[in-house]
Amino acid sequence: MKLEGSTAFVTGANRGLGRRFAEQLVTRGATVYGGVRNVASLDVPGVIPVRIDVTDPASVAAASDAAQDVSLLINNAGSYTGASVSDGSLEDIRLEMETHYFGTLAVTRAFAPHLAANGGGAILNVLSVLSWLTFPGYSGYAAAKAAQWSLTNALRLELAAQGTQVAGLHVGYLDTDMVASVDAPKSDPAVIAALALDALEQGAVEILADQDAQRTQADLAGGVTKLFPVDA
Ligand SMILES: NC(=O)c1ccc[n+]([C@@H]2O[C@H](COP(=O)([O-])OP(=O)(O)OC[C@H]3O[C@@H](n4cnc5c(N)ncnc54)[C@H](OP(=O)(O)O)[C@@H]3O)[C@@H](O)[C@H]2O)c1
Repeated sequence: MKLEGSTAFVTGANRGLGRRFAEQLVTRGATVYGGVRNVASLDVPGVIPVRIDVTDPASVAAASDAAQDVSLLINNAGSYTGASVSDGSLEDIRLEMETHYFGTLAVTRAFAPHLAANGGGAILNVLSVLSWLTFPGYSGYAAAKAAQWSLTNALRLELAAQGTQVAGLHVGYLDTDMVASVDAPKSDPAVIAALALDALEQGAVEILADQDAQRTQADLAGGVTKLFPVDA
């Protein structure tokens, strides 16, 4: 996927990782639509604001109508409620699924015909190490990220016929609002956005952006006892 001269749509472009994607795509010579819930919150120079709530079908359809020249879709918008599956609120757990799984699905289905009409293009889904791992306090989110990973793989197979490259970005903690309260090493979202765009341009379909992602992907081969060691 050549980024220079492409037209990108980035969901959640007003802050965090999505903002970095939008900024860097402009720098790399793309036309960029910034998909945001509140257009007043988008202040990235050169980015065209488009209102979208990925959980609202009417808003997804309107955004897709407004951006028919798109050749790169970045499904970046994300929620994190902190709900655990055993005792968290079902409303929060559903919100995670609505945002990460059904939101990514709805936006992709709305934009896929544009990608086909514009030469196939590419989709980059922002996944996580929590597509493969889970922890109490993260398990509602992790289940949604796992579903989004399966969706990403299915879309890669199902959109191959129209020539669309479908990539997943796996990453550990990022220094964004989402995990502002977490005290742990975090990657700079600008560095991760640059790395992911480079990999996308080189044709990658699975982008392991940091050591956590690389280690976790390698641990998959060891099965659940490797992923979730239990002290004897
Ligand atoms: N932060 C991490 O440690 C981490 C690690 C791995 C993966 N990720 C993933 O990285 C992606 C970006 O997260 P981030 O860290 O940049 O989070 P963030 O700073 O909290 O930003 C989240 C973005 O998603 C938008 N958003 C949330 N719900 C939306 C909806 N229903 N419709 C449209 N936009 C919506 C937000 O818009 P508003 O401003 O309107 O709220 C905001 O722009 C997410 O997919 C997240 O799961 C994050």
